[in-house]
Amino acid sequence: MLEAIILAAGKGTRMKSNLPKVMHPIAGKPMLQHVLDSTAELSPEKIHLVLGHGAEFIREHIGHASLAITLQEQQLGTGHAVMQVLPKLAPDSTALILYGDVPLIRADTLKRLAGLADTKTVALLTVRLPDPSGYGRIVRDAQGEVAAIVEQKDASPEQLAINEVNTGFMAISADFLRQCLPQLNNRNAQGEYYLTDVIALARSSGLTVKSVETAFTYEVQGINNRRQQAQLERQYQMLLANRLMDEGLTLLDPTRFDCRGQLTAGSDCVVDVNCVFEGTVRLGNNVHIEANCMIRDATIGDGVHIHANTVIEEAEIGADCHIGPFARIRPGSNFSRGARVGNFVETKKTLLGEGSKINHLSYVGDAEIGANVNIGAGTITCNYDGVNKHKTRIHDHVFVGSNSALVAPVEIGEGATIAAGSTITQNIQAQQLGVARERQRNIDGWQRPKK
Ligand code: UD1
Ligand code: CA
Repeated sequence: MLEAIILAAGKGTRMKSNLPKVMHPIAGKPMLQHVLDSTAELSPEKIHLVLGHGAEFIREHIGHASLAITLQEQQLGTGHAVMQVLPKLAPDSTALILYGDVPLIRADTLKRLAGLADTKTVALLTVRLPDPSGYGRIVRDAQGEVAAIVEQKDASPEQLAINEVNTGFMAISADFLRQCLPQLNNRNAQGEYYLTDVIALARSSGLTVKSVETAFTYEVQGINNRRQQAQLERQYQMLLANRLMDEGLTLLDPTRFDCRGQLTAGSDCVVDVNCVFEGTVRLGNNVHIEANCMIRDATIGDGVHIHANTVIEEAEIGADCHIGPFARIRPGSNFSRGARVGNFVETKKTLLGEGSKINHLSYVGDAEIGANVNIGAGTITCNYDGVNKHKTRIHDHVFVGSNSALVAPVEIGEGATIAAGSTITQNIQAQQLGVARERQRNIDGWQRPKK
């Protein structure tokens, strides 16, 4: 039986933040949630989360079905943290130990590690680093087995040359933890109970220590400060970018790409620089997204062209639409095939029919617009009376002249025309012209004021 233990009680002083360290995001998701999600892939019997600093906040914002929270009042070290969970562990279980501030650990690696441990074997995750300084070195015996972890400060010159280091991740039987944890002491540089000391105890108790080596440095990278957070963020984004490119997406510059969620793309899509994708975004085939777009929770149809500096949120964009530049497409916008929404247009809760256009400088909210409608520049749906929102219905083939205000609720019949500059407060029937503006007067011989 497998039980996971995630250590997350530390304060994270070097983040210089009021937010608990493990709640800081990588790709828009708290570090701790990354760890939980990967851990959950192993379906452990229980996931024990050791919390201290910010426990209440974390409890409110982090969730998983099989989560069991243990409080560690004082942070006396990683060994001490695991000790708090000891009474809750089933006697015959294997404990998999993880860190809330090492977010990108992969489920595959955890599976290999957990699979290696039993009552006689401790499994340890190691990694080779070009520069191992600062880390505990993995010292192996003649048989190639892990003999000890020697901390930097205690290492001989030969040991210092070893570049295989301890990651801290381990799988170990609850039974042995029960034996060895009470033997830990805090006589070391930091005055803490080090979990790493259980490795030497395992060897001296006749257990075998087997190791799993990962080739992916990022997955064992811990975050202690905002620089490390930013570095890991970039590495993670590069991984996502590479995966998407392998699947056939063109990224004009993968170093200027950010995905904070799930992005899927059909064939031959192109994404220009500095686009940010959040939530779940689906691109059809042949979608072209120009620079500086922000797209969140949206479905973009085949052949859509999104021009630069466009923001799209909770929207559905049908095939062959043209959006932007500088368009703001807000939640509930749903555009049919071939619609066009141009610069400085804001839409919200708006259905836009096939081939309809809102090309310039408009606000359209709470509207149902049919097919082949032309909404002129500067059109505003006055959808809000200060208390309630009201609907504007515009049927097929309507032409709305520029600078019109449509005071909702209002309905414009099929093929109707609205004269430019009208403030429409009454319904217009099919094929009628609605004019609601002062008639122009021209005054002869007008004298301009003089100085
Ligand atoms: C620890 C490991 C190190 C490993 C590294 C991975 C030890 C002695 N060292 O070092 O081998 O490479 O993690 O990043 O175990 N924590 C608690 N309670 C405590 C102390 C820590 O829950 O009393 C939690 C922290 O919140 C953090 C994690 O354990 O999430 C690691 O603690 P930290 O103090 O950062 O240990 P490192 O020095 O990074
Ligand atoms: Ca750390």
